[in-house]
Order: sequence, then C-alpha cells, then structure tokens
Amino acid sequence: MNSISSNKSSYLTGNLSVPGDKSISHRSLIIGSLANGRIEINNLLESEDVMATADALKILGVKINKLNDKWEVFGSGIGNFHGSNYRLNLGNSGTGARLLMGLVAGSDIDATFIGDESLSKRPMKRITEPLKKTGAIIDGQTNNLPIKIKGSKIPLPIEYQSPISSAQVKSSILLAGLSSLGKTTIIEPSLSRDHTERMLKFFGANITTYQLDDLSWKITLDGIPELKSLDLNIPADPSSASFPIVSAIITPNSKVKVMNVCINELRIGLYKTLIEMGANIEFTNKREMNGELIADITACSSDLKGTTVPKSRAASMIDEYPILSMAATRASGETVMEGVEELRYKETDRIKNVCNGLQKLGIETYETTDSMTVKGKGPKGIIYGNIEINSNLDHRIAMSFLCLGLVTEKSIIVRDTDTINSSFPFFMDKMNGIGAKLNQM
Ligand code: S3P
Repeated sequence: MNSISSNKSSYLTGNLSVPGDKSISHRSLIIGSLANGRIEINNLLESEDVMATADALKILGVKINKLNDKWEVFGSGIGNFHGSNYRLNLGNSGTGARLLMGLVAGSDIDATFIGDESLSKRPMKRITEPLKKTGAIIDGQTNNLPIKIKGSKIPLPIEYQSPISSAQVKSSILLAGLSSLGKTTIIEPSLSRDHTERMLKFFGANITTYQLDDLSWKITLDGIPELKSLDLNIPADPSSASFPIVSAIITPNSKVKVMNVCINELRIGLYKTLIEMGANIEFTNKREMNGELIADITACSSDLKGTTVPKSRAASMIDEYPILSMAATRASGETVMEGVEELRYKETDRIKNVCNGLQKLGIETYETTDSMTVKGKGPKGIIYGNIEINSNLDHRIAMSFLCLGLVTEKSIIVRDTDTINSSFPFFMDKMNGIGAKLNQM
C-alpha cells in the first residue's frame, strides 16, 4: 500500500498541463467505437478508469490501439456488437460501468459487469431502472455489481424523467437510445455535464436540449444516427486542474497557470465559487475544440471568505466539493454547501470522509443528509496537521487532503494513494514540478 506525505511548501509557481478530461476520454472511446470508421484520439487520459473502459470495449470486440502519442479506435457503426457471456471489469470507474451498461442495453449482447470494492457498493438502480424500460433484461438484484444485462438489438425509444441530475444516467440512456428506431428523451432537474450530447452532435447525431417551464431540462436524441468518423482532441480536465489551482490560491506568494483546460459551463462551478469567495482566477486564451470550450486558467494566492454554494450549482462542480472544502478551511467564515446528497454515492461517502478528515485537523464541520458546512480558520489561521487520512479508494479525497497538507504546520499523510491513478497519473510529479513538497513514503 503506497502512501504520500504532504509537507508545508513555501510557494507554488509555474505553468503546467494536467491530463485529459476523464469524462470526455471515456466518451471518446465509447462513441468512437460506434462511429462509421477509424478515429484518432489525441491527449486521451491514460488513467486506470479510462483504461478499464478501453479494455471492456476490446473484450466486446472493438479494435483500439495506442499509437505513439495518440490512440486509434476502429468504429463499426451503430448496432454491430454481437456475442454473449462477456465479463466486463470496470475497476473503480462508475462512469465506465454506467455508460457501458447503456451501450450493452442497446446491443444484441449480454454482459456481466463487475468492479472493485468501492464500485461494487455504488448504486446502479438509477441506471438499471431506465434501461429496463428500453427492453433490456437485468439479471438478479439490480442495485449493485455484479449485474448481468441482456440488451436488445432494437431497444424501445423511451421518455425518462430522472429524479437526479446525473450525466452518467443521462449518457447511459442516450447510448442505449442510439440504436432505437425512435426518439429517446430524458428530463433532468438541472442540466448535468453535456459531453455526450456535444460529442454525439459533433459526430453528426441530431440531439436537442431545451429548458421546460418548470426549469427542468429535456434532452432528445433521434435514433440510428450516422456517426461520422472524426478525430478528437481531449482538453485538460477541469476537475484535475482544480488541485494545482486551489493549492496556488491557499499557498502564500503563489501563481500557477494550467493550460488548455475544458471550461464547459457545466463543469466550472468550482471556479465560479472560488471567484465569489475572493480568489484571483483568470481565464485566458479562450477557444473551441471539438465542440468544447477551453482556456488557460491562472490562479494566485488569495484571501478567501466563506460563501453559500446553492444546490443549483451542484451538478456543475459535483466532483470538486472535496477540494472546495480544503479551500474553505483557509477562508474567513463558514462555507455552506447545499444540495449535495449525491456526494454520498461517489467512490466513497465524500461528505463523511471530508468532515471526518477535517475534524481530525481541528476544523469544525457540520453535515446533514444533503449539506455540508466547513468553518474556516481564515487565510492566516494555523492548521496544525500531523494526521493520517485513508483514501478508502477515493482518488479525490486523497488528492484534496494532499493539497491541504501544503499549508498545514506539520505533514498530512495519505494512505493508499494508488487510487490517484484512476484520474490523475503523475499527480505527485506535476504538483512537485510547481513547488509542492509531496513525498512518496
Ligand atoms: C461523470 C458524471 C458525474 C461525475 C463523474 C463523471 C461523467 O457523475 O461525478 O466523476 O463522466 O458522466 P454523476 O453524473 O453520476 O453525478
């Protein structure tokens, strides 16, 4: 079991790149496998989660190769998966498992999905219930892996009203709907990240999104689109960029720039929140790449004040609450995070793990089922440190506490850090490259 200690660092400086976006990387492989021909992918995130998706697709018969610095995927068009008794191990990856369940549900195949200890505890009914409506047959109990799905070659077109805003639920249903003869519609309470819609549109699918009178969102896909084979460039991941950015904000005398980051409106809730809290953050060199907006993000040390993050912003920063909580310890006043129950169903219960870890550091936190509050010590407040955190197979919990350790008096040691490779390979090297003092133990 590997561990990393994070130690007080004098200042952080420099430009850096962080790996390709995890959500877009999964989708590039999956949607690429449905395109009419070969595509090349540049800057694919080569993390354990994304490689689990690539391996699962290879088991299903898709030809995927790594070239020098690119990947190629040989798409065989929609409706061309065959075979039975596949066994797909998605490791730690909720996105990989849930999106591929949609692909299998809309294909003439059956497959059993398995995963690691963390993934096997995560809720799957949110996916299996709507997929059953398309005609897919789900074996056994339907909320936890292992789950066996027998798909249908021509799934029924469905209209599904989702009780939660989840891009994984939405994408899974849309992927099943690709091989359906009619229109597939999903309605979600607030708009979750729309990378699936953007990529399908980029490849030529007809897909519309509009807001209803009750402020929920309706997404409709026309079945059996011709998906062109176009090459993709994956922008840097705004969730991974949040670690050096927040570290620069909380560490004195720091200035850090992260290059080519995806700034899709539905992913940048953290950055908006930090700016509201007084952070000095700048987006420059804005441009578009394969239907996604990107920019370079620069952040400097800043004095933060607490804020209330409304529920309406939750979907656009769902993976960033752990790192926001670390920033909140350095703010004056309280930071209240509302409407965040979904955090309880991530790789770990992130509300519980953040609060437990911060309490060990002497930070006051309060939680309810769907909210979390962190009482900051102020920008100059002293946090002693000298604690150990177990990652519990949660990469974002591990990286968040390592970032906070850069400003505590004594080190923070995070145990079981291999999980960081599920989203951010070379995290330690990248952070140390801008002046962080992280040491492998
Ligand atoms: C993801 C969606 C989010 C996010 C996850 C990646 C995706 O999950 O937490 O890390 O790529 O679709 P939910 O949509 O379930 O909230």
